Amino acid sequence: MGCFQRLKIVPCSVEDIDILLELEKCSTKYGWSKSDIASSINAGYDCYKLIEDQRVSGYCVIQLIGEEMEILNIVIHRRYQGMGYGGFLLTSIFQMKRYESVKDVWLEVRESNVPARKLYGRIGFTQSGTRKNYYHRNLGNTSGQEDALVMTLRKKS
Ligand SMILES: CC(C)(COP(=O)(O)OP(=O)(O)OC[C@H]1O[C@@H](n2cnc3c(N)ncnc32)[C@H](O)[C@@H]1OP(=O)(O)O)[C@@H](O)C(=O)NCCC(=O)NCCS
Repeated sequence: MGCFQRLKIVPCSVEDIDILLELEKCSTKYGWSKSDIASSINAGYDCYKLIEDQRVSGYCVIQLIGEEMEILNIVIHRRYQGMGYGGFLLTSIFQMKRYESVKDVWLEVRESNVPARKLYGRIGFTQSGTRKNYYHRNLGNTSGQEDALVMTLRKKS
């Protein structure tokens, strides 16, 4: 955990919307739009940014419903991908007092998103279902649909 010591996890506010949009644009081809980000924050979903040396290196959006937590989005800045930051962000959030009564965590991920699937698998998520043609896939000249894998983690029995 040594190399993560300088990382801080801080709740986001509406003032972060533009910086989060920049993060999306430079880090993923399936990024959320400005209105996706704004409506999540305005709806009161839990949103946390990962700060390193005063720069935002990632963020995560969560919906908490009773004892169930849904990960709505997680993005790590392209520059920091593959360094374990995503796992650090998720596992740190899971340990927060606010989530101590959470029993199950779930999320949806594109079947083709190998980095995300590897991350989730490493921290204990397993596939619990598939949503056929859930995503609209528009990449360059390729268009079509893509399945979502539903992944779940039993945090507490
Ligand atoms: C998915 C994501 C959050 C993972 O966070 P991370 O901090 O990069 O996670 P890790 O460092 O644990 O890497 C996970 C695995 O993906 C690989 N990986 C990460 N980024 C990669 C990249 N840009 N290209 C290729 N492989 C990558 C890592 O090498 C690692 O593989 P390993 O388990 O074989 O070592 C991050 O890559 C990201 O922000 N992607 C774009 C947004 C996204 O897809 N979000 C998920 C939506 S469901």
